[in-house]
This record gives sequence, C-alpha cells and structure tokens, in this order.
Amino acid sequence: MAEKVLILGAGGVGQVVAHKCAQVPEVFGDILLASRTGEKCRRIAEGVKKMQGREIRTAEVDADDTQALVDLLKREKPAMVLHVALPYQDLTIMDACLETGTHYLDTANYEPRDNAKFEYGWQWAYRERFAKAGLMALLGSGFDPGVTNVFTAYLAKHDFDVIDTLDIVDVNGGSHGQPFATNFNPEINIREVTAPCRHWENGAFVETPAMTLHRPFTCPDAVGTYEIYRMYHEELESLVQHFPSLKKAQFWMSFSENYLKHLEVLQNVGMTRIDPVLYNGMEIVPLQFLKAVLPEPSSLGPLTKGLTCIGVIAQGQRAGADRKVYVYNICSHEEAYREVGSQAISYTTGVPAMIGAKLMLEGKWMKPGVWNLEEFDPDPFMDNLNTHGLPWKKQDPVEVW
Ligand SMILES: NC(=O)c1ccc[n+]([C@@H]2O[C@H](COP(=O)([O-])OP(=O)(O)OC[C@H]3O[C@@H](n4cnc5c(N)ncnc54)[C@H](OP(=O)(O)O)[C@@H]3O)[C@@H](O)[C@H]2O)c1
Repeated sequence: MAEKVLILGAGGVGQVVAHKCAQVPEVFGDILLASRTGEKCRRIAEGVKKMQGREIRTAEVDADDTQALVDLLKREKPAMVLHVALPYQDLTIMDACLETGTHYLDTANYEPRDNAKFEYGWQWAYRERFAKAGLMALLGSGFDPGVTNVFTAYLAKHDFDVIDTLDIVDVNGGSHGQPFATNFNPEINIREVTAPCRHWENGAFVETPAMTLHRPFTCPDAVGTYEIYRMYHEELESLVQHFPSLKKAQFWMSFSENYLKHLEVLQNVGMTRIDPVLYNGMEIVPLQFLKAVLPEPSSLGPLTKGLTCIGVIAQGQRAGADRKVYVYNICSHEEAYREVGSQAISYTTGVPAMIGAKLMLEGKWMKPGVWNLEEFDPDPFMDNLNTHGLPWKKQDPVEVW
C-alpha cells in the first residue's frame, strides 16, 4: 500500500531523496518535503515535477523546534519521517516522532552543536521508548554509514564464518573544479575530517592525530589511484558492537592535496572553530560563517565529473581457511546529475535513505525499536541497491588491498 512520507531537509541529499521516492509511487504515495527554507523545497518540487513527472507537496518548518514538528506531523500524519536535514536535529525529530506515532529514519548520528563529537549513545537511549510505542527508528541509512553497514552484514552472512578485520574505503575520484568546496554540508564535513582519528584494535578504540596515516589505493574498474587517509567514521561504533569478532576496523577516505592544503590554512587561521567569537559586537561561529561563503553542496551537481568508489574489504575465515573479500559500488557524478540533478555524494546518500524507508514501509525491515542497518537481513537491501541506481560488485580474490 502506498504511504505518505515526510522528507525533512532540502539540501543536496534531500533533493535526491525527493526524486528517488517520487520514482517509487507504489510505496511513496504522497510525498511532503519540508525544510527551514520553504523556497528550497519549492525549487526541488519543480525539479521532481520536470524530471520524474510527479507532484510533491512542500512545507516550511524549523526542525530544531519539537513543537513545530509535532504540529506538522499531527496535521499531515505521515507514516514516517526521512530526516536528511542536519545531525543537530536528530533528537528533536525523534521526540516529535514519539509524540505523534511516526516512524523515523536518518543518515547521520546525533551531534551537539557546541561539541564536535558524534556518537550513537544519545539515539540508542531511545530504544526502549520506540519499542514500547511500537515505532521503528533506522539510524544511518546513507552510504557511509548505511550501505557500508549492509555490505558488512552481507559479507558476514554469505562469505565468512568469522570476520576479524574490516577496512571501509571511501574514494571520491570526482572533481568539481572549485578551489575549495565540500560535497556535503560544509559544517558537518569539516567537523568530521578535523576530528582526531579513531580506529578499533583488540577490543578498544585507539586515538591518533587527524590525517596522520595514509596510503595509496588503486580502485577497481579503472577508477584510478588515490591517496586515502585513515579517519574516524560513525559506522565503526555500531559495527564493532554488532560484529564482536572484529579485531581491527578502520575507515579510510580519499582527499586531494588541494583540499587538505585549504583545510590546513583554514584551521591555522581559526576559521574551523566551532566556539563563538565576538565580531563587531556580535557573536559568530567561524565555521558557520565559513559555511555561508562556501559553495552549497547542492550547487555542485552540474560541475562535478568523475566517479566515486566506496566499499568494504573484510578479512577472516570460512571453513577454517583464511579469506579476504571486497564489496563495492562505483557511482558516476554525471549520471547522478542526469537522473536527479545532483552529484554522486548526495546521490549515494539519498538512494539508501529511500531504500531504507521503502523496506520499512513494505514491512521487510519493520521492527519496533532503534536499529542500525547491519541488524537486519542485508539481502533485500542489496537487491534494491542493484535496481535503484547503486549496483554493487564483489571482488574475490581481492586485488585492491
Ligand atoms: N550517511 C552518509 O553517507 C551521508 C553522506 C553525506 C551526508 N550525510 C548527511 O546528510 C544530511 C544532509 O546533508 P546535505 O549535504 O544535504 O546538507 P545540506 O545541503 O547542507 O542540507 C541540509 C538541509 O537541512 C536544512 N536544515 C538545516 N537546519 C534545519 C532546521 N533546523 N530545520 C529544518 N531544516 C533544516 C537546511 O536548510 P537551509 O537551507 O535553510 O539551511 C538544508 O536544506 C547531513 O546530516 C549529513 O551529515 C550522510
């Protein structure tokens, strides 16, 4: 049965989610897109009408305001919220969902504004309340986190008896031609990449200074060779809990020399600070000001060329023998733009958000409580990736690592 859904957030990812939900009318019967700036929702709705031939409705709401959300949810009564605004709003939206009996999905775990520390603890604390209310919250249904969690669950189910080592590798081989821009929300992106690195080793997270360990990585299928840097990423937290056999788990992301040089200068001059400074008698947060002068991720769609390659390399044993298997997706920035008017970073996040919501509404992944993606059967998600724009491949034996 086709359901009504509320998409929250009209940025790069919100645009993709709106287009992809519109492509599946048998599941998403009535789509409402709401965000802080109503004009951005209306612009996306026009694009959806033009490219997908479907009308979607729009609204304006401040998702930091639980009461405003409750009012909107009571008025509209959607079956679920697909939250693709910012991680700062995770808890206000979960509160509003609890109050109104609405299912919940997001793509990034909660992070307080004044402390660049993201972790699942705040949201896992809602488990009992969601379970008691008969509601489901699916956390981190983007690509990483999201598909990387599903890839891990798929490898654990089909290829290994035991996985002991996990390397998640996220390469963006694309280029937007701008001197400096981030592919998703600049504030969230810069907070993430400037944080100290943490990786899992022998039962504990080990902290090292940001961006100190790096190595070249040659992607499969002629995507190219890129320098990848070890950093902390949120899926490590849930994966090491749900796969306790893991002895080592690391996350790697590619960065260009140009990006890192700009970032170093911005850090050195204090522009990435998240504490308020006094300017002309007014308090401003340097990183929020920086965001205001950088290109919006949603504006990079027509400019970005090239491919992304994101995947998981697992090592372990099956039937007593050592094994290593790599599962990955390659996505083209230009093809994503042709299909939904966005670059591949927004596309690779928005498609899994739609798929997670689809599986929930179809009842295939519907279970009261608060869950990460690796806690479900990966097979239906993997099938949907193949049919909704993010086909994956398996490399066995592994040539890339
Ligand atoms: N899991 C993954 O693979 C992955 C990858 C990339 C991004 N993400 C996550 O996806 C989310 C969206 O990223 P994006 O690149 O689309 O960011 P974006 O382009 O900056 O869009 C964010 C949107 O949220 C809206 N918003 C912000 N605060 C709001 C509030 N209080 N109430 C209502 N709307 C509000 C913004 O409205 P305004 O335009 O009015 O500011 C904007 O439309 C982020 O949480 C990001 O961390 C996840």
